[in-house]
Amino acid sequence: MRDKTKDNNFKDSLRVALRVQEAKKRDIGRNIARIDQETMDKLDIKTADIISLIGKKETAAIAWPSYPQDSGLGIVRIDSRLIKNAGTSIDETIQIRKVITHTAQNIVLAPISIKIKSNPRFETFVKRKLTNYPVAIDDFIFISIGISREVSFKVISLKPSGICTIKPETVLYISEEITEDKEQGADYVTFEYIGGLHHEIEEIRDIVEIPLRHPSLINKLGITPQRGILLSGPPGCGKTLLARAVANESEAYILFFSGPEIIQKYHSETEKKLRNIFIEAEEKAPSIIIIDEIDSIAPRKELVLGKWEHRMVSQLLSLLDGFNRRGVVIVIGLTNKLELLEPALLSPGRFDKIIEINLPEEKGRDEIFRIHTRNMPLEKSVSIRELAESTQNFSGADISGVCKEASLFALKRYLPQIDLDCEIIDPELLEQIEIIPNDFYQALKKISKNVKLRQKLMENDKTKENNNKKI
Ligand SMILES: Nc1ncnc2c1ncn2[C@@H]1O[C@H](COP(=O)(O)OP(=O)(O)O)[C@@H](O)[C@H]1O
Ligand SMILES: [Mg+2]
Repeated sequence: MRDKTKDNNFKDSLRVALRVQEAKKRDIGRNIARIDQETMDKLDIKTADIISLIGKKETAAIAWPSYPQDSGLGIVRIDSRLIKNAGTSIDETIQIRKVITHTAQNIVLAPISIKIKSNPRFETFVKRKLTNYPVAIDDFIFISIGISREVSFKVISLKPSGICTIKPETVLYISEEITEDKEQGADYVTFEYIGGLHHEIEEIRDIVEIPLRHPSLINKLGITPQRGILLSGPPGCGKTLLARAVANESEAYILFFSGPEIIQKYHSETEKKLRNIFIEAEEKAPSIIIIDEIDSIAPRKELVLGKWEHRMVSQLLSLLDGFNRRGVVIVIGLTNKLELLEPALLSPGRFDKIIEINLPEEKGRDEIFRIHTRNMPLEKSVSIRELAESTQNFSGADISGVCKEASLFALKRYLPQIDLDCEIIDPELLEQIEIIPNDFYQALKKISKNVKLRQKLMENDKTKENNNKKI
């Protein structure tokens, strides 16, 4: 990749190579790179200086001191946006150098995946949000707008070239043309979007990443890599989210589909479709097959009557036994209902690893609340800690619901001031909107009802099950 930064950006070309590690949750979206004192001294960098990160691409970040436990490890912690902007990935090495930035004279931002009507007031608003922000060409930038809305932009033109800082005098345009970038759209999930589940994420990463990244290592050590993992647990706790993050962050070839989708779309050809998926995975290895709601294509044999379903289950079993002769293929199955799954699926060599994804504990809930309120303008007295404390038995999906409802309650308070005929809501007004504790209390009341009802249904199910066992 070409080095897009002019040399006059640099006092000298002293560089230090550091290994990329992921940012801590609290640092996400702050545009900072955590580096240790030794590196800072070597490069004559002080806290809050702008540095450049050079992977396959070059981008800029704000230097921040590392956490004490990271000192001397030769690592830099950056979030997924900086990872993408620097063209690198976790565990890869990037170069760091000090940079003297210029003031941007002109910058053009293209919105990603949504159309924004160009409007000078909106441009002023965006510029104010980005003041003192360091940018490079091709960078992705996220801006939170109004209530829980994040818009992504790509820097498509920048003058002068190199790394620049946006200042009040910068002329900023928002392009009317949209950049399509699936990876930076609103639905793009990375591990950063998952609260709690640290141990579970680490387990999956070890199983998925080591054999895929270092196949020769596996051959050399003569280890048989784990081939099947089952993620199981109550609905709404992040199984699909986790699988999507694996799919997005892995460099392997990904085949992601859900059981019901296969059955509905390819009813008569389900067996053939399944076989084709496994063939494609082997051809494109290293690859990962992800089957969401796997119980629908592999129900317990005694629970189904149709011959057709029996054939489908047998087909899946023989595919699991027969593949993986060439290259590494990993299969991840997801289910809310382990008890409905054909037990033969769990025998050795098939899904021999089960990872349980349970309801989040208080610490996990705290993180999930922080993730879902990341772009919400919270009033100071909103306490995430209290919210986490008072949401026992809530799943991640419930917490996401609480945050959405709280935004709606807040919006209702502002409705009288909003001109609904106007296509673009006044950015000044958007800036004033705040979500207050009472919005959350109302939201909690609403969602709690569902949680309690679900709790009751689950208890009933359990009693029924126990009674059946007694009989
Ligand atoms: N651990 C979590 N961290 C952050 N958000 C979560 C978490 N678990 C669930 N959510 C939220 O709930 C939604 C539904 O979760 P999902 O992964 O589909 O649950 P599952 O597949 O376990 O039923 C997610 O899209 C996300 O918004
Ligand atoms: Mg799911």
